[in-house]
Amino acid sequence: MTRASLDKQPHEVASMFDGVAANYDLTNDVLSLGQARLWRREVARAVAARPGQKVLDLAAGTATSSLPFAATGAYVVPCDFSLGMLREGKKRHAWLPLTAGDATRLPFADGVFDTVTISFGLRNVQDTEGALREMYRVTRRGGQVVICEFSQPTWAPFRTVYTEYLMRALPPVARAVSSNPDAYVYLAESIREWPEQPALAALLQKAGWSRVAWRNLSGGIVALHRGFKA
Ligand SMILES: C[S@@+](CC[C@H](N)C(=O)[O-])C[C@H]1O[C@@H](n2cnc3c(N)ncnc32)[C@H](O)[C@@H]1O
Repeated sequence: MTRASLDKQPHEVASMFDGVAANYDLTNDVLSLGQARLWRREVARAVAARPGQKVLDLAAGTATSSLPFAATGAYVVPCDFSLGMLREGKKRHAWLPLTAGDATRLPFADGVFDTVTISFGLRNVQDTEGALREMYRVTRRGGQVVICEFSQPTWAPFRTVYTEYLMRALPPVARAVSSNPDAYVYLAESIREWPEQPALAALLQKAGWSRVAWRNLSGGIVALHRGFKA
């Protein structure tokens, strides 16, 4: 198994991430031209974790996305269903409570987290709406969800250039830097298929989240969506 297909069979997705785990963070930095760090800073600002709060970082992979929340003194649980990604994360951040779990059947009780966040993960979950409902279930009343995901650039000329970059440049660059270039063909395809900003906001509302809003980063290459549990 080198890449998942667009029907996102969970075993294919998990095995694809198992395969890229060792080089995942480095490849991310290279392919995003350093933007990944900026996006993570903005996610941390949106989550605004405080000491003692409980934060679930879902689809946390190697737990790189969890570090900014942990740095605030919050109690962060990185959760993922790729054991390869979790093992890599455990090697680097042994002190974090990395937890194996599927986003559509979370191994947590109702209402236990102040914030549930997911960075570059929701697009890979086969049942998006099921995951949004599970995230709602494990969040306390008054708590929030913050979703960071690739999205659609809002300025049409840039969108065209970006789509060309994605579809044409990403796979050859990935071939040079990644242990599994095919995974980056999946990345490009899955971004193209992913709902635009308003459509994702509508899915959040449908799952029960209120006061849903989003903010574009890097011209809409990435969007941060937020919602609250009333
Ligand atoms: C692109 S990585 C993102 C990792 C990390 N959040 C980051 O920002 O670097 C996507 C992760 O989503 C995980 N994932 C996909 N579907 C999942 C599911 N149903 N349940 C849990 N994790 C899932 C994959 O195993 C992978 O580690």
